[in-house]
Amino acid sequence: MDLGLSGKAAVITGGSRGLGAAIAGVLAREGMNLVLMARDGAALATTAATLAQAHGVAVTPVSADLSAADAVARAADAAVSALGGVDVLVNSAGATKRGNFFSLTEADWESGYDLKFFSAVRMSRALWPSLKARQGAIVNIVGIGGRMPAADFTIGGSVNAALLNFTKALAEVGTQDGVRVNAVNPGFFRTDRLAHSLRSLREQTGCSAEEAEATLLARLGVRRFGEAREVGDLIAFMISRHADYLNGAAIELDGGTRRGI
Ligand SMILES: NC(=O)c1ccc[n+]([C@@H]2O[C@H](COP(=O)([O-])OP(=O)(O)OC[C@H]3O[C@@H](n4cnc5c(N)ncnc54)[C@H](OP(=O)(O)O)[C@@H]3O)[C@@H](O)[C@H]2O)c1
Repeated sequence: MDLGLSGKAAVITGGSRGLGAAIAGVLAREGMNLVLMARDGAALATTAATLAQAHGVAVTPVSADLSAADAVARAADAAVSALGGVDVLVNSAGATKRGNFFSLTEADWESGYDLKFFSAVRMSRALWPSLKARQGAIVNIVGIGGRMPAADFTIGGSVNAALLNFTKALAEVGTQDGVRVNAVNPGFFRTDRLAHSLRSLREQTGCSAEEAEATLLARLGVRRFGEAREVGDLIAFMISRHADYLNGAAIELDGGTRRGI
């Protein structure tokens, strides 16, 4: 299926590794020019150069700490300059600390919200004029925890719920301005995050790597973990002309992990 994305421009926050880098890989494969944002300039430069060489597109790294409002504004300006205009924004930067509620600090709460929630709000606002001019799309990478509260995920779950609400509200603005705004709620994907969870499980139980995977899959009640590329494939469709009627949606990509309607 020709998605019609070739030559279009996307900004991906958190694009140096994990889901963001995998999404960048798929969009580059579809011929999109990209700006990738994260803090670590060396990792960003490596990802950008690899994708540019593999797919023959322009990939510009913009290094910024997106938890700070002024840095988001500067990064957005740099992205518009580099791309000449933006068709797509994917908000994938995010890190929220898990743990016992009474052990989490004010700083943990603030950094979780500053990065994942406020960077998405601020980047959407900063790039909106360009997205409106191009009749573009935003996709927020959220997480199933927004609809599945858990005692050890009070920060991440509430950030995700806030981001889902924001997605829906901004989609209504988008109906006036011609910008589609949607979300993806990933389940458990093979990223560093999963590797960390499996390592913790092994340390707690002394089990093997295979047993840790089997235990987690059994807990989740699913057959396998997701491959990061699968998030990119879904997003490529969501931002394409084939999904022009998709607005204000939050799509779960979790192999069936979240029960509930
Ligand atoms: N992986 C999963 O299975 C999964 C499941 C559900 C939801 N999610 C959500 O999906 C999003 C991406 O997750 P991931 O697993 O891909 O995370 P990850 O592998 O930890 O990557 C996070 C990305 O964000 C960047 N980043 C972190 N702090 C930043 C900051 N202050 N300013 C700018 N960039 C920053 C990182 O680069 P630097 O560190 O260099 O800045 C990196 O590029 C998160 O919001 C996460 O909650 C992931």
